[in-house]
Amino acid sequence: MQFDFNKETTREGTHSVQYEGTEALFGVGGLEPFWIADMDIETPETIREAIKERLDNGIFGYTIWQNEQFYEPIKHWWQSRYNTVLSDTDIHYSPTVLFTAGEALRQVTKERDGIILTTPSYNKFPSLIESNNRKIVESPLIYDKDLKEYFLDVNHFTSLCERDDVSMYIHCNPHNPTGKVWTREELQTIKDICAANNIYLISDEIHMDFVRPKEDFVSLAALSEEGDQVLVASCLGKTFNLASIPHSYFVTKDRTLTKTLTEVTKEVYNVGNASSLALAAIEAAYTECNEWVDQLNNHILNNFEYVQKYIDDNLSQYLSLDIPRATYLGWISFEKSGFDAELVHKALVEVGGIAVSPGKLYLDYENKHFRFNVASSRARIEDGLIRIKKTFDYLYNERDKGSA
Ligand SMILES: Cc1ncc(COP(=O)(O)O)c(C=O)c1O
Repeated sequence: MQFDFNKETTREGTHSVQYEGTEALFGVGGLEPFWIADMDIETPETIREAIKERLDNGIFGYTIWQNEQFYEPIKHWWQSRYNTVLSDTDIHYSPTVLFTAGEALRQVTKERDGIILTTPSYNKFPSLIESNNRKIVESPLIYDKDLKEYFLDVNHFTSLCERDDVSMYIHCNPHNPTGKVWTREELQTIKDICAANNIYLISDEIHMDFVRPKEDFVSLAALSEEGDQVLVASCLGKTFNLASIPHSYFVTKDRTLTKTLTEVTKEVYNVGNASSLALAAIEAAYTECNEWVDQLNNHILNNFEYVQKYIDDNLSQYLSLDIPRATYLGWISFEKSGFDAELVHKALVEVGGIAVSPGKLYLDYENKHFRFNVASSRARIEDGLIRIKKTFDYLYNERDKGSA
């Protein structure tokens, strides 16, 4: 079956953060949003049907997650898609990925401890660390201009792990915002360095299903052994656009932390029961939507190729994009334009009428990037690109006037 990812969608009346939350964030109304990481693409019909069937039961009381409707689909997905065998005891429900990361951080580390992030970094990690009175310790990724890839500075990372005040590393695979996919060898190196220095390793793998080709995705769960201080957090929110149906899961062979996390989730926060709609969605998604995800990845790749060609044909003196091997988030550089970053971000909003995420949100200090979400119909992407072109043409003309 061929799925249509170009279908027009609407968020009207849904209180969507992407649409109704943009003005508060950017200070201007009427912007076309491409910033948040959710999709203008409908959840597959198979999942919607499963949710409807569950709705027809009419009762939505407290729901247990420790059952085959939770374990079996997750095990099936990981084995059939990523050749990774998980057992029931390795998989645990949690309300959100950031809840898991935040609670693991509170359980494993002490106030004022250093937590390593590779930078640029997903913007919620720094706030998670600082709001928990820990400090951010940066391991800047190195960009190789020839290979067009970001790499870990292994020596620097090792020296950070050796510090007495550092106790955790929050890893992101695939990496948001750069789209880097970490190889098995890189993961093994990171895991070994962390283990040798007693650094707890959290791996956020929420974008795992957007690795193209899917065979290239290796989870840290696949490298974990009994008792390892490694925890992987993921969910279906990104892949199937289910962010507003609360659910996530984590995978670990650290039984000590598992016990604490499940107890705290249940007893301290009282959020230890599952959403009945999420269980129905997980079952349908992870057992019946393999082909849909493959076709979605092709659509996203086509969109990226379109964006790249548009840039090459119309904006090559200002912009460059390396098509990422994962995620639906383009990390577009405007370094070669020479334009001041603040001017660019202001003009994108005021001239282009477009809301994209500025690089500095991701601890990209030069602020020479913006993040552009391509998980939409082609028509929306075309509109976004016209807005970007309008912005850079304006900046060019203004510079010309200034130098005349
Ligand atoms: C890398 C990463 N982790 C976590 C999240 C948020 O996940 P959750 O809503 O389950 O906390 C996002 C959302 O954009 C993300 O990109």
